[in-house]
Amino acid sequence: MNILHVVGARPNFMKIAPIMGAIARVGFARQRLVHTGQHYDASMSDVFFSDLGMPRPDIHLGVGSGSHAEQTAKVLVGFEAVCRDEHPDLVVVAGDVNSTLACALDAAKLCIPCAHVEAGLRSRDMTMPEEVNRLVTDRVCELLFTPSPDADENLLKEGTDPAHIHLVGNVMIDTLMAHLPKARATGTPERLGVLPGSYAVMTLHRPSNVDDRDTFAGLLDAVAHVQRFLPVVFPVHPRTRSRLDEFSLTPRLTQMSNVKLCAPLGYLEFLGLTSQAKLVLTDSGGLQEETTALGVPCLTLRENTERPVTVTHGTNTLVGTDPQAIIGAADRALASRCAPRFVPLWDGHASDRIASVIQSWWSASARSVA
Ligand code: UD1
Repeated sequence: MNILHVVGARPNFMKIAPIMGAIARVGFARQRLVHTGQHYDASMSDVFFSDLGMPRPDIHLGVGSGSHAEQTAKVLVGFEAVCRDEHPDLVVVAGDVNSTLACALDAAKLCIPCAHVEAGLRSRDMTMPEEVNRLVTDRVCELLFTPSPDADENLLKEGTDPAHIHLVGNVMIDTLMAHLPKARATGTPERLGVLPGSYAVMTLHRPSNVDDRDTFAGLLDAVAHVQRFLPVVFPVHPRTRSRLDEFSLTPRLTQMSNVKLCAPLGYLEFLGLTSQAKLVLTDSGGLQEETTALGVPCLTLRENTERPVTVTHGTNTLVGTDPQAIIGAADRALASRCAPRFVPLWDGHASDRIASVIQSWWSASARSVA
């Protein structure tokens, strides 16, 4: 069996790495890795390969940045040629980035079965580019690997054939559990000048938060409050860095004496940092899940989440972007105690279950051809 795995942007690496490892352990397939090049800075891409012990990509498309249409179109054209050369029996895509959508679409048009890891998540917010990507990807994929029962329900409500849906759990948590001891050993809090257990971590990169000056400025008002009580470490995403400059907000942030700005961190350093934080403020999807597994309170600075299980079973609170609401929620979170939460099947073995489903699916396909 020939499997072609796709990675493109930062959140893809930690989802594909454990699946490649699990399939390699069983040893039933030849695996090749394609990097679309959607993310290309060393800190947004290369560091994840070394941190996660991932094989280097066999094929690099080098698409880079651009508008949604440009980026998606470049991946579509590049990956179609790869599929024609490689003749994969299965394409594996993960998450909800533009590369995910483009490669799933290529596979569908070439009648190559495609598996979607992290299927069925829905924010029901069609202004999010990721929601469009999730909907279309799930529609055209044959194997839908879901992280939690709410995702199964979403797919069933949309009329998906239940035979395509496989509830396997969360592969990001496989990666987290496997790397936590190494991550803690990086000493990242100390290197950034904060004491373990006594700081907040903030990440922001959603266009809805950072591409609108008023919303972004309001978020900084909330940060100005939080940093009076504990240091806030803020690794700045490239999109966010350019908006801070464009909106002339950088000086406002650098004037806050207890905010520590840094470049985007690698996987191990970032996990080392968040795992010892007192509070996380974020608009990331994956971080809502990681903080749930780590037992760190997470305030999600968005109006909706495609990961409701992190609110119902986890440590996540959806607070929106109103500065007063964020301040109130931060004060409450800091006054309360928090412990790691267990979501069923977020147990470190989701990728083993994925490998097992793929192997059975392949045996069944081979039998039906015979
Ligand atoms: C993308 C994903 C988003 C994911 C995020 C994780 C889509 C639609 N969005 O958003 O779902 O949560 O990645 O980071 O796929 N840039 C660099 N260096 C890089 C990559 C990007 O400088 O290595 C800059 C470029 O100016 C680029 C901008 O960041 O225009 C945005 O990058 P892009 O990949 O378009 O979207 P993200 O905001 O990173």
